[in-house]
Amino acid sequence: MSSLWGVVPAAGSGRRMASEVPKQYLKIAGSPLLEHTLRGLLACADLRGLVVVLDPGDRRADAVGSLSDPRISSAPGGAERADSVLSGLNSLAGVAAPDDWVLVHDAARPCLPLSDLQNLISVVRERGMGGLLAQPLSDTVKRVDDGLRVVETLDRQMLWRAQTPQMFRVSELQGALEDMRRQGLVVTDEASAMEQAGYGVQIVEGSPCNLKVTVPDDLMLAEHYLKTMAARRV
Ligand code: C5P
Repeated sequence: MSSLWGVVPAAGSGRRMASEVPKQYLKIAGSPLLEHTLRGLLACADLRGLVVVLDPGDRRADAVGSLSDPRISSAPGGAERADSVLSGLNSLAGVAAPDDWVLVHDAARPCLPLSDLQNLISVVRERGMGGLLAQPLSDTVKRVDDGLRVVETLDRQMLWRAQTPQMFRVSELQGALEDMRRQGLVVTDEASAMEQAGYGVQIVEGSPCNLKVTVPDDLMLAEHYLKTMAARRV
């Protein structure tokens, strides 16, 4: 069976958080956010290795205990998220086979339930098609013009919010992200690159608690989810 690897892009500055400390190092429920994210992935026994992509000048990572786990290695981050993911994939080149699977998971998503992760892995492995966790939309969605005038109301039944992890074959994802870079196109998730390259991509329904911490209010919500998840485990 193909091995499973992970890449965690954690080299962002988190501008929208308006904090001096990059968001992956902000403390929630007693630990840096990145620590929770790594624990969530390391809980999966199937994972052979995990590359954490860090800003090369970043000393804050020393405070993240999980980074010394034997399954974890690091790689230098790039200018955009996709550059950081490519850097992580390149560092897997010596150990992963081209057909192996890789999970890419944002450092900024600390509340990933193990059941969601296992569900994604088993659906993707079973169907042999890459995929991602996502959530159906509950709000009505408007498309607007530059002046914020509503152009149309979209059919929300056909719309999903993409989360991470996103799981693809190592070499296919690497090729798709390299193509995007060559064309000068910036993608904000792996699935976009795979779609543009013509691959099928499937959705696996995830939980609302797997939020991406982006603005200060998200911290409170993430802490609440982490505490609730920990209470359910005991
Ligand atoms: O900024 P955003 O929330 O979209 O970032 C998503 C993830 O990508 C975060 O975990 C962030 O640390 C990471 N990232 C990165 N390299 C960049 C930009 C973002 O690893 N240049």
